[in-house]
Formats: sequence, structure tokens, C-alpha cells
Amino acid sequence: MGYSFATAVHPTAVIADGVTLGEGSMVCARVVVNTGSTIGRHTILNTAATIDHHNHIGDFVHIAPGVHTGGEVQVGHGTLVGIGAIIMPQCHVGQNCRVGAGALIHRHLADNLTAVGLPAQPR
Ligand SMILES: CC(C)(COP(=O)(O)OP(=O)(O)OC[C@H]1O[C@@H](n2cnc3c(N)ncnc32)[C@H](O)[C@@H]1OP(=O)(O)O)[C@@H](O)C(=O)NCCC(=O)NCCS
Repeated sequence: MGYSFATAVHPTAVIADGVTLGEGSMVCARVVVNTGSTIGRHTILNTAATIDHHNHIGDFVHIAPGVHTGGEVQVGHGTLVGIGAIIMPQCHVGQNCRVGAGALIHRHLADNLTAVGLPAQPR
């Protein structure tokens, strides 16, 4: 329909050179995004989340406050990663998943799943 969407980045966020941030996305206070990462469209990186190097975070994703990801993580379209969750390096979280608050993702999570716990189990 011809609309375009702004991106909003809090001045305390630290975003490495070369990171791409899709239109309509929001980066909150104290977020860190490291080198080589891509952030999709209409995605929220919420307060004090850290996205490490070479992550690929899809469109319409919500990375909740205090989430930490290791290097080379992927998060698919439409997924919620709940408050304080940890995604270990090189893990892939599928599309339309729900990662529970406080979960530890230590292996790939397929599309359309909810996973909670430490370590996280799909349910
Ligand atoms: C995982 C989640 C999506 C599940 O929501 P839900 O489907 O409505 O689940 P329910 O609240 O009905 O809970 C179902 C069961 O899972 C358990 N559970 C829910 N969330 C859990 C979590 N994060 N860790 C461990 N167990 C959890 C509940 O205790 C309950 O257990 P029971 O069946 O033994 O009683 C949700 O609890 C959650 O963690 N959301 C993240 C919210 C968030 O961080 N939002 C960002 C705000 S900025």
C-alpha cells in the first residue's frame, strides 16, 4: 500500500558496523548486536538483550528483555524468545516458536514448537 516503516534504535544500544536492521524494527536500551548479524523486519530486540556475532534473526521476531544468544544463532520468522532465555552458539530456532522465559536452548528447535526449561524441552 506504499507505506514505509521507521526503525527505532535507543541511543544506548551498541550495534556493530555492518549489521543490517530491517524496516519497522525496534532496538531497545542496552541492547548489543555483534558483527555479521542480520535483524529482520518488524522485529523487537528488547531491553538489554545481546545478539552475538553472525546471528540471523528473522522478521516479526520478539527477542525479550535479557535474552542472550551465542554466535551463529538463527531465529525464524514470527518466533518469541521469552525473557532471560539463552540460545547456545550455532543453534537454530524455527519459525513461529515460543521459547519460554528463562529457557536454555542447547540444540535446534523445529518450527511451531514451544520449549521451556533448563535445558529446554519442546512440549
Ligand atoms: C512458554 C510460554 C509461551 C507458555 O505459555 P502458555 O502456553 O500460556 O503456558 P501456560 O502458562 O499455560 O503454562 C503451561 C505449563 O508450562 C509451564 N511453563 C510456562 N512457562 C514456563 C517457563 N517459561 N518455564 C518453565 N515452565 C513454564 C507452566 O508452569 C505450566 O506447567 P503445568 O502444566 O505443569 O502447570 C510462556 O509461559 C512464556 O514463558 N512466555 C514468555 C513471555 C515473555 O517473556 N514475554 C516477553 C515480554 S516483554
